[in-house]
Amino acid sequence: MSSLLGMLVKEWFSAPQVQRRPEPAAVMDDEANVEAFHGQGEGPLIPVYHFNALAMHALLPEGGTVVDLGSGSGQYLGYLANCRPDLNIIGIDLSAPMVATGRRALTARGLAERVSLVEGDMTDFAAQLPAKVDMVSTIFALHHLPSAAHLAACLAQMAAVRKATGCAVWVFDHVRPNHPATPEVFPRIFTPTAAREFQLDSQNSLIASWGFDELSQALESAFGEAVVHRRSRLLRLYQCHWLPARDQGSKARWQGAELAGATRKDYRSLAGIFPGVPQSA
Ligand SMILES: C[S@@+](CC[C@H](N)C(=O)[O-])C[C@H]1O[C@@H](n2cnc3c(N)ncnc32)[C@H](O)[C@@H]1O
Repeated sequence: MSSLLGMLVKEWFSAPQVQRRPEPAAVMDDEANVEAFHGQGEGPLIPVYHFNALAMHALLPEGGTVVDLGSGSGQYLGYLANCRPDLNIIGIDLSAPMVATGRRALTARGLAERVSLVEGDMTDFAAQLPAKVDMVSTIFALHHLPSAAHLAACLAQMAAVRKATGCAVWVFDHVRPNHPATPEVFPRIFTPTAAREFQLDSQNSLIASWGFDELSQALESAFGEAVVHRRSRLLRLYQCHWLPARDQGSKARWQGAELAGATRKDYRSLAGIFPGVPQSA
């Protein structure tokens, strides 16, 4: 508790001192990293997945098609598919081992018919999509892009899909910390039992993340319209941005399971620092 408070105080009162450093490996194709990340999707990441799934639920019509960029091994997409059995979901990731691990897991869970993972580049994907897309999303992935030019290329592709289909857009990621100690302390506080590979990945992810203003401005300039931007309060290390679909279809029923115990508590803490983000089932 005291280390959390210490980290928060340093973040609040520090000027931005952390220079962006791109991820050492933009594409996650090291087997140990793939395993470590996939494993977190079964436990510690559930509160974050639940938060994102509820926000996307509010933006998605019945029977919608979701295209998710940097989908990793599809752990989040499997979670979303269980909460919204009406959706068809396509995940795009440049890492062959992530896609292979994900396909195996989705098949074992009986979800492979509705969630397909394809190898592809989030800076060049728009031409390969079906004509009907209801949402383009990206969760914990934009910080993997090596440079501002790659980010602009990815957002331009997302904007092209929105222009062609009128789809909704949902973006969730970390915010780069202000204080140099935060990247190291953050994983020790929030994922103390995670594999060493995951902790290092978390640390690198924070340093590679875009600032809130940086990403907000890049989105505004790519989409040429008013995007909704939210940064988490208190623990100011998360950001989300969204655009509703141009034509909102009929609503579907949320069928996600109730969270319990520590997972529910962690989810509530996350939702609590993001007022104004749609979270009703
Ligand atoms: C931290 S993981 C996020 C996985 C997933 N979205 C989640 O939240 O569980 C980021 C993923 O982005 C992928 N990635 C990096 N650069 C990419 C690119 N240019 N195109 C597609 N995927 C990319 C990596 O391979 C990695 O699997």
